Amino acid sequence: MSMDRRNALKNIIGITTVAAGATLVPSFSAQAAPALEPKQRLKYARLDPAAVAAIAYREDVRSLGCMYQVFHAIVEALANSDSDDAEKFANIPTALSVYGGGGVAGQGTVCGNNNATGMLYSILSINGEAPKSLGKVSAYYEQTMLPRNDEAFLTAVGATKEDFDAKVAVQTEAHSLLCHASLTRWSDAAGIPISAKGMRCQLLSASIAWRTVELLNAELAGDDISAIPGDTAETSECLGCHTKGENPMGNASVMAHMECDTCHGNL
Ligand code: HEC
Ligand code: HEC
Repeated sequence: MSMDRRNALKNIIGITTVAAGATLVPSFSAQAAPALEPKQRLKYARLDPAAVAAIAYREDVRSLGCMYQVFHAIVEALANSDSDDAEKFANIPTALSVYGGGGVAGQGTVCGNNNATGMLYSILSINGEAPKSLGKVSAYYEQTMLPRNDEAFLTAVGATKEDFDAKVAVQTEAHSLLCHASLTRWSDAAGIPISAKGMRCQLLSASIAWRTVELLNAELAGDDISAIPGDTAETSECLGCHTKGENPMGNASVMAHMECDTCHGNL
């Protein structure tokens, strides 16, 4: 079959139609490698917790919500670190984490701090392995009076005790990983409406960024982290019977590392 101009043109159009996905339209498979492959882990390098907290509280970062504060601050610090993967960290589009603010776009579900640490831990490698302290960060969020208001912390991030007293007023313990529970307990104790939560949540995320880096540094140094609080004593006790396995006890199977008492007890 001879190929005149018209047929050639038709064939070319045919090719573009059939094979568009593979050849002519930019796609993840055909173009430059993505910043990160599924299950790929990038090497953590020792960071300064105070410096990372300061990034989290930097004006351009804190204005973008709690999840971005924690995720972006640590990724930015790693992009500027000694990590062999520094360049790969620099290519991670941390803007994706903005959605997590206010418990996922203001829905009050999982707090963005916990969403951020979850995302971060899933892409880090420490001494060749997945980091193991995620539950310790969650426990810190859940079981500690926050945000921090000690002088070392406030100085590091560039805030003052006067600001704290005026706009945050009190520290509270969330007893939950949910944005809603954390916020409402604070608002109730502080006598400040949630609509004015700005500084409280921004300092909270800087506190979590600091703690996360401390825990990751401890893992990198090979420290024994087993004594650092994780599940509450009550939760561990409940989990002794309520597991995610088949349940011969006649009640539903359970998978949770949250404080059980918050919903099932009197907290
Ligand atoms: C010694 C084992 C054991 C421990 C520890 C335990 N449970 Fe249970 N739990 C059971 C059994 C067995 C049932 C089923 C009882 C039934 O259906 O009659 C149950 C039922 C429940 C139920 C179903 C509702 C109800 O009241 O029947 C909830 C909720 C629950 N447990 C929560 C908890 C929490 C929270 C803790 C920790 C504070 C805890 N359990 C600790 C064994 C245990
Ligand atoms: C954020 C709130 C919340 C937390 C925290 C929580 N639960 Fe629940 N749990 C629920 C809800 C809601 C249900 C389903 C409604 C119900 O049956 O009470 C439920 C159901 C259960 C049931 C089945 C009840 C049944 O009727 O058979 C068990 C057992 C249980 N939870 C144990 C636990 C344990 C153990 C923990 C801690 C590791 C825990 N829960 C933490 C909210 C929570």
